[in-house]
Amino acid sequence: MADFFLPQNSKVVDGRHYPAPPTAKRVKTFRVYRWDPEAGGNPRLDRYDIDLDQCGPMVLDALVKIKNEVDTSLTFRRSCREGICGSCAMNIDGTNTLACLKYIDEVKSDDVKIYPLPHLQVIKDLVPDLNGIFEQYRSIQPWLKNDTPPPADSERLQSVEDRAKLDGLWECILCFCCTTACPSYWWNGDKYLGPAVLLQSYRWLADSRDAKADERLDQFEDPFKVYRCHTIMNCTRTCPKDLNPGQAIGEIKKKLVARV
Ligand code: SF4
Ligand code: SF4
Ligand code: FES
Repeated sequence: MADFFLPQNSKVVDGRHYPAPPTAKRVKTFRVYRWDPEAGGNPRLDRYDIDLDQCGPMVLDALVKIKNEVDTSLTFRRSCREGICGSCAMNIDGTNTLACLKYIDEVKSDDVKIYPLPHLQVIKDLVPDLNGIFEQYRSIQPWLKNDTPPPADSERLQSVEDRAKLDGLWECILCFCCTTACPSYWWNGDKYLGPAVLLQSYRWLADSRDAKADERLDQFEDPFKVYRCHTIMNCTRTCPKDLNPGQAIGEIKKKLVARV
């Protein structure tokens, strides 16, 4: 796994060790990926021994404690701390997930290993560069498209049944745990849109109020954008919101086939 995060011709080396206070009785070690491309040098794994009796239950609590009390230079994204904003997505103990939803006690290994989301450029430490993925997100035009004006005295209404078709789609928080767990995206991320963006696209294809399904599907008549999905299902396995992007991609493929 470590070589996903390696600048060319370098290796991840053991970094600094920050021991727990001598009074600590319940200690857990966090090994955290550290790299500042501007400073150069090898990436390193710093080791922080944390007193769990003085720390909240989640991996994000430990990272915040490290940043506040041990090492202010550690860099990571977070905002809501309740699985809503998607910004604390990272690779914990070998799996992409949200640090704020991951209980420290769930990590069975002695050390909690924390890396940035795989196969993206690293900006610093646990912060990956998401610009490329957000550019792909922009390309699917993730908003309601309908040339007919809404009724003058109400919103565009949906039946209960049509609204239900959006369940399992609207909950996506764009954390990109799925996209960065997808082998097809690792190898063709410049041309394949990946599971998060495709689930978002299906969210609009499934919306009874949207009138541009054909236009949206035209965009996918391309060998890479959708068809690089080989149904490996890493995406669905890793989604911290229990969504099924693999299935959403299957639904897009069905719609494409139905037009032929
Ligand atoms: S099902 Fe498709 S999108 Fe999901 S991991 Fe597999 S190849 Fe990637
Ligand atoms: S489908 Fe799940 S893993 Fe993928 S971006 Fe949305 S919430 Fe995150
Ligand atoms: S901090 Fe918002 S999802 Fe974790």
